[in-house]
Amino acid sequence: MPKVHYVTHDGSRHEIDVAIGESVMRGAVDNDIPGIDADCGGQCACATCHVFVDPAWFEKTGERTEMEEMMLEFADATDENSRLACQIDMTEQLDGLVVRMPESQH
Ligand code: FES
Repeated sequence: MPKVHYVTHDGSRHEIDVAIGESVMRGAVDNDIPGIDADCGGQCACATCHVFVDPAWFEKTGERTEMEEMMLEFADATDENSRLACQIDMTEQLDGLVVRMPESQH
């Protein structure tokens, strides 16, 4: 199963298996990784699953949707590598993906 490396704002790393087709948000929530609240349950309606995708991986995660862009405006301290974790679905190509959680989510 492909792995995601979740890095919390304090630098703790969590290496988690995430099934293909599952979202990066679900991988964190199902494994009690702090820093991703996912208040809306993955509906792209809360922005509490904001992550910074490692720049080396950003393109592989695909394009942000228009809705995701809108929701990111409500997140704190976004940058060019910001994504909503519920909008990234795992693929074989994302094995080893690194995402960092913002300090505002912990
Ligand atoms: Fe709400 Fe991702 S879980 S926007």
